[in-house]
Amino acid sequence: MTNNNLLEKIVSLCKRRGFIYPGSEIYGGFAGVYDYGPYGVLLRNNVAETWTRAMAAHDNINFIDSGIFTSPKVWEASGHVSGFNDPLIACLSCHSKLRADHLLESVGVSADEKMSEKELNKVFDAHRKKIKCPVCDKKSFGKVVKKTLMATSTLGNLDEKDKDVYLRAETAQGIFINFKNFLDFGCSVPFGIAQVGKVFRNEISPRQFMFRKREFEQMEMQYFTYPRDVDVAYSAWKKERMAYYETIGISAEHLRWKKHERLVFYAKDAWDIEYSFPFGWGEIEGVHHRGDYDLKQHQKYSGVDFSVLDEGVGEKYIPYVVETSAGLDRVIFALLAEAYDEDKVGGETRTVLRFLPRIAPIKVAVFPLLKNKPKLVSKARDIYKTLKKDLLFVAFDDNGNIGKRYRRQDEIGTPYCVTVDFQTLEDDTVTVRDRDTVKQARVKVGELIDYITKEL
Ligand code: GAP
Repeated sequence: MTNNNLLEKIVSLCKRRGFIYPGSEIYGGFAGVYDYGPYGVLLRNNVAETWTRAMAAHDNINFIDSGIFTSPKVWEASGHVSGFNDPLIACLSCHSKLRADHLLESVGVSADEKMSEKELNKVFDAHRKKIKCPVCDKKSFGKVVKKTLMATSTLGNLDEKDKDVYLRAETAQGIFINFKNFLDFGCSVPFGIAQVGKVFRNEISPRQFMFRKREFEQMEMQYFTYPRDVDVAYSAWKKERMAYYETIGISAEHLRWKKHERLVFYAKDAWDIEYSFPFGWGEIEGVHHRGDYDLKQHQKYSGVDFSVLDEGVGEKYIPYVVETSAGLDRVIFALLAEAYDEDKVGGETRTVLRFLPRIAPIKVAVFPLLKNKPKLVSKARDIYKTLKKDLLFVAFDDNGNIGKRYRRQDEIGTPYCVTVDFQTLEDDTVTVRDRDTVKQARVKVGELIDYITKEL
């Protein structure tokens, strides 16, 4: 299977099986936005839960759910209003809007994010003869223009003179502006604040399915520490975050570290965890050393004192921040790519998502062998209801033959299928079929919950 093929297959499975739909599809779509369907929501919740549990395992990390909308001053102070830009260039032939830095990278030239528009145009002009439009293959481009990634809204604007407000472009700022509330709540350095939430960015060219969206979710944690301890904390978080991906079923060979050569305006050091996506390596999480940049900026702009007393030395200081910032949608995409497999069962090709049970949207499916045998159906319904009480995410399927039902469950990654057959009516046992080995075991109905939970 080529990588392009794999991407197409994942996109098609996601739509067909109710994981992910293109946004506003009935109106021709809306670039950079996707809707999660029934299994997609469960998958999303499972991934967010593994992250939440990984954070909650620390006794000094608390959670927050801050507003998507904030005072515009937050984004002036953070530096996003002036510094959160991408270089846009238009293809004069097909009119596609493209990232100039990505085009430069395609010919082996790296553009510094701190470069001014003038500098970017100089570099682009030096290489423009070699650069092709990835959409129409022509070599005719306009000028590079820096475009803000900040999305705006008129929320709260009731007067002509009111300015537009920003939708948050990272969840981190909601954490920084609440730093003092957490101190008052009783947290003392070192401690972390974690949050999962939506963010919005006016990406120039949203593409590669869930990879570059305009509305997406982040799972971020800011760890506030003593400046003297920041290097130790930074290495520990890097180690922990990389290990996390293996616990959710991503193999080490598909993960790697990439150091940022060009640091964004707030970072002192920055490394990305990259996944080997069907289109190539791409960032799924950034682990950043943000120093005291954000707290100092908010202290300066708000006038609120963010310094903390170091009782050991009797001096006040501004804590340093280690940030772990994962993109939930990208992690989901990585998990889909990692889990997607095709093999042969009974001479036929089957598609299977080999999710770990904790990630799989549905844990068990229950089938009556035949739909038109009331005794089988009623027994299967009873078993379904009992399992659902404990496991919640259980499916009942009596549509089509057993082979087709197995295929459907394989395609959504259900680890176990339970079939009620004629033997069940005689000895109260069922078959439990394992998704990965396709082996079946005969299990007593009374022992089913224990058997499945043990396997799960
Ligand atoms: N607070 C730091 C921060 O926002 P970032 O590298 O810009 O850093 C963090 O974003 C993570 O958010 C990335 O590692 C990626 O997983 C995800 N992300 C960023 N832009 C995205 C986009 N356009 N679509 C989907 N996910 C995105």
